[in-house]
Amino acid sequence: MGKFIIEGGKKLVGEIEIQGAKNAALPILAAALMTNEKVKIHNVPKLIDVDNMLKILKNLGVHTEFDGRSVTIEAQEINSYSIGNSLAKELRSSVFLLGAVLSRCKKAVVAYPGGCDIGLRPIDIHIKALRDLGIKIEEKAGYVYCDGSSPEAGEVCLDYPSVGATENVILAAIGIPGVTVVYNAAREPEIVELQNFINSMGGHVRGAGTPKITIEGTEILHGTEYTVMPDRIVAGTYIISVIMTGGDVAIKSIKNGDLSSLISKLSKNSCNIASNNGIIYVKAKGRPKAVDYISTQPYPGFPTDLQAPFMALQTISKGTCVFTENIFENRFRHVPELRKMGADVIIRDRTAVIKGVSELVGAEVYAQDLRGGAALVLAGLAAHGITVVNDIYHIDRGYENMEKVFNKLGANIIRV
Ligand code: EPZ
Repeated sequence: MGKFIIEGGKKLVGEIEIQGAKNAALPILAAALMTNEKVKIHNVPKLIDVDNMLKILKNLGVHTEFDGRSVTIEAQEINSYSIGNSLAKELRSSVFLLGAVLSRCKKAVVAYPGGCDIGLRPIDIHIKALRDLGIKIEEKAGYVYCDGSSPEAGEVCLDYPSVGATENVILAAIGIPGVTVVYNAAREPEIVELQNFINSMGGHVRGAGTPKITIEGTEILHGTEYTVMPDRIVAGTYIISVIMTGGDVAIKSIKNGDLSSLISKLSKNSCNIASNNGIIYVKAKGRPKAVDYISTQPYPGFPTDLQAPFMALQTISKGTCVFTENIFENRFRHVPELRKMGADVIIRDRTAVIKGVSELVGAEVYAQDLRGGAALVLAGLAAHGITVVNDIYHIDRGYENMEKVFNKLGANIIRV
């Protein structure tokens, strides 16, 4: 299952580039099957989740090539509209393939992706929205059967600004003649990226990044060449690591606005953060002060994907932090592992109370999920002594060569 052996106490110094955004690349790869012309997508991160998405596309009859940086997609023929159990479970986000396959094939069948490490992950909001667009949906024996033979463009109001449901509706609405408007849409930057990609294929999507998105049904989409935005969650994780190790790092190609909630929390009492022409300069400023209260929210609020890495920082900050996780119901699985390293954290329902300690101590710990695993690596970098993080396949789902990035900055991490 793979592990990292981390020697703690090394300051991170230097400069890094940020990988392409996983949560932008995945819906873009799904959207690429909506044209029968060639699509080239650059800056695609080499990750387990990307590999799984490519496997699913291949199973649908799509020709894909990936050189570790760029993906070429040719969906001349789609010879299946069904996404089976094993792959749907491997990759939860396969659910937004529903919208893309419906647009292309007017039919789609997907196995219920089911829960994952961080929660039940229901898809009721997706299903209600697609039904509102006249798509007939039957849920049977763990599968979702969709018939898009007589869809109706119209207005959809999401009960919650779900990222995946917003993406699914955009993708499905492309294949529906007429104008569809989505209200209470998610506003994440990755959705703006999906809009830009679709429009580069000749689509007409407007309003991504706001709660109201308008999609014009488009009969034919043409091929395109597109470069994926940098990963703001990976960048945020690395910014936090610099502060935890007393470092000084330049992080290239991140738009400041994509991390404003994190940067506003950090710049007040943890470090000097400045940015110009797409480079963020982070310099630690002694022992960070705890943020007294923080809660995760849909964008532009504090991102749930940075909750675990930010908690790692709070475990060694001066003071007490009250941290509420509002988005997923099981996203504190890194807490018992952090406690093994001497962190003082107690959980009550969806709230963690973190009392900062002056130093963590290296220990053997186990990654439970993607972002919780990253948090354990950050704790190991800051801890006194050696930390072993097991089950690092969780981390490889979202961070490309994490140990190489950190070692380039002066860390000492061995992958075994
Ligand atoms: C996307 O997941 C991201 N994944 C997640 O990143 C991210 O944490 C999440 O958005 C929130 O920002 C990808 O983009 C591939 P949601 P998604 O639908 O679309 C509930 C990572 O670490 N909900 O906005 O699944 C759901 O259970 C991953 O990179 C319903 O109840 O997130 C959750 O509590 C983890 N019914 C909340 O809404 C639904 O039909 C937010 O989910 C859909 C969602």
